[in-house]
Amino acid sequence: MASIVAILSSVLIFSAFSLGSSLSLNYYDKTCPHAESIIANAVKNAVSKDKTVPAALLRMHFHDCFIRGCDASLLLNSKGSNKAEKDGPPNVSVHAFYVIDSAKKELETWCPGVVSCADTLALAARDAVVLSGGPSWDVPKGRKDGRTSKASETITMPSPAFNIAQLQQSFSQRGLSMDDLVALSGGHTLGFSHCSSFQSRIRNFNATHDIDPSMHSSFAASLRGVCPIKNKPKNAGTTMDPSSTTFDNTYFKMILQGKGLFSSDQALLSNPKTKELVSKFAGSQEAFRKAFVNSMIKMSSITGGQEIRKDCRVVN
Ligand code: HEM
Repeated sequence: MASIVAILSSVLIFSAFSLGSSLSLNYYDKTCPHAESIIANAVKNAVSKDKTVPAALLRMHFHDCFIRGCDASLLLNSKGSNKAEKDGPPNVSVHAFYVIDSAKKELETWCPGVVSCADTLALAARDAVVLSGGPSWDVPKGRKDGRTSKASETITMPSPAFNIAQLQQSFSQRGLSMDDLVALSGGHTLGFSHCSSFQSRIRNFNATHDIDPSMHSSFAASLRGVCPIKNKPKNAGTTMDPSSTTFDNTYFKMILQGKGLFSSDQALLSNPKTKELVSKFAGSQEAFRKAFVNSMIKMSSITGGQEIRKDCRVVN
């Protein structure tokens, strides 16, 4: 049964997207020359009021690209009996959709029907990284927006409980390598996680261990402190790394200390190749920034859409 699900999910993933070679850096130069500054302003505005926005936008772009390619399928609202991706389990904590709405509204005023929601999100994710002190890069553009969004397909998102083999499979199904996996996991330098994403590691881990043995014991103790057993406050959780609004390489340093938050983070030490990259990025901010940019461009080039949506929440 598990193998049937695995085969079905790869067919689903492969048939739904292609690595887009049709994207270009100067795509809107003639049709909407101010597109990038309009988006950058909307992001900057939102970030000045809410410091959780950059992490949210970066994760939003990743979650969009992993289902049907970067086609803004994640931005569509559920309608009638169709439950959209947005309302699938891995996406319930994805937020700040309003930032894309406000950028898109401005874009529609200046150049109606020209800039896709998928490009808007790809650019906003880059701006979010820059505003957090991370690297900048030129984003290839020309993505189209999809017309299909199904919550059921979010089952193919990687889980925080994944081991290295499962992570490798999930990334390679989308044309991404082990190098991409390590570099992009560095996105966990930003943001916040709810207890539900790591609670299985800190209590009743398995028959022999109460706590995941790959987790540093004092780190586990502090996480148990923020995630009490009984009074389960829904919003309880912790920052992804101690400098969670700054894009830096602390995430990799934490993993080397056994302080990766998710199994999927800590699992990067369980393979010699990925372990070497974690050490490299922990030792060199520059190496991480370079690799992150490369892999972001690769992930963000998985295309899949058909139209330029007018409103990012509904198909035309
Ligand atoms: C490798 C597989 C990955 C897994 C299993 C994973 C899983 C998760 C989980 C469980 C959360 C916490 C959700 C919550 O409790 O609210 C999270 C947060 C986050 N993830 Fe990932 N993630 C992965 C890769 C990525 C990638 C590739 C990026 C971006 C390049 C990314 C960016 C983020 C960010 C920025 C947050 C914080 C979101 C916020 O504060 O709103 N993740 N991830």
